Amino acid sequence: MDDRSGGRLTKDGIRIHEAADFAGMHRAGQLASEILDEIAPLVVPGATTGELDRAIEDAVDAAGAKSATIGYRGYKHASCISVNHVVCHGIPDIGKKLKDGDILNIDVTVIVDGWFGDTSRMYVAGKLPRKAERLIQVTHDALMRGIEAVKPGNTFGDIGHAIQSFVEGHRMSVVRDFCGHGLGRVFHAPPNVLHYGRAGSGPVLEEGMFFTIEPMVNLGRPETKVLADDWTAVTRDKSLSAQFEHSIGVTADGAEIFTLSPKGLFHPTYQRD
Ligand code: MF3
Ligand code: CO
Ligand code: CO
Repeated sequence: MDDRSGGRLTKDGIRIHEAADFAGMHRAGQLASEILDEIAPLVVPGATTGELDRAIEDAVDAAGAKSATIGYRGYKHASCISVNHVVCHGIPDIGKKLKDGDILNIDVTVIVDGWFGDTSRMYVAGKLPRKAERLIQVTHDALMRGIEAVKPGNTFGDIGHAIQSFVEGHRMSVVRDFCGHGLGRVFHAPPNVLHYGRAGSGPVLEEGMFFTIEPMVNLGRPETKVLADDWTAVTRDKSLSAQFEHSIGVTADGAEIFTLSPKGLFHPTYQRD
């Protein structure tokens, strides 16, 4: 197996990184999160998703970093911006104006010194509607429950189970059609990190694994479909959808979150009135 990136691969093809690699992931994750902090004030009714993406691309350039999404499988933008019933991979559009009460996920991945930092969070334009607030809260808390399940000896199934049981306990649904992923010096690597599953199933977590957890939660049913642009994924029943994503590394006794918000803006309760 290919071992040129340092560390080693498990039998499931999951890379075990070295202690020194955490610093590289921390720098990449911090830049991605800092950019999401920076654009928060721009998310207002009347702004377009194309403008927000432009500001993100400019911020990536200003930092001397590289966007991981521009040129990825033909994708042309520095972010994905997924509004309301868009589940993920929403394409920024200079013709798409945000309206009061719209909720949106903005997902940014940057490359810093070869390391990938991938994070997304929810925003609201104007006033946050009550049922959207509930959805956003549950989705955020589901991600954090998933992260709490991360420690050596637990399994990937434990992460999925923590997320699914929490979300379904709130009578919302977990999207099955998209998952988290290993990352590091590559964007998408093994394993697929499922946001549902059975406790104790799946590969065992080991110190040095790097991956994302990025649950998508719907107010209605879990089914999605991809639009004719081949990217935009929406809920089939048009119900609202939310997502949060962190890039993390497994430590000796838990997880290091690489993409914590420097300004504490990851969770959008600061926008409540
Ligand atoms: N950032 C997304 C993820 O969480 C991937 C976006 S790929 C793109 O894995 F091409 F749509 F940008
Ligand atoms: Co990701
Ligand atoms: Co992402």
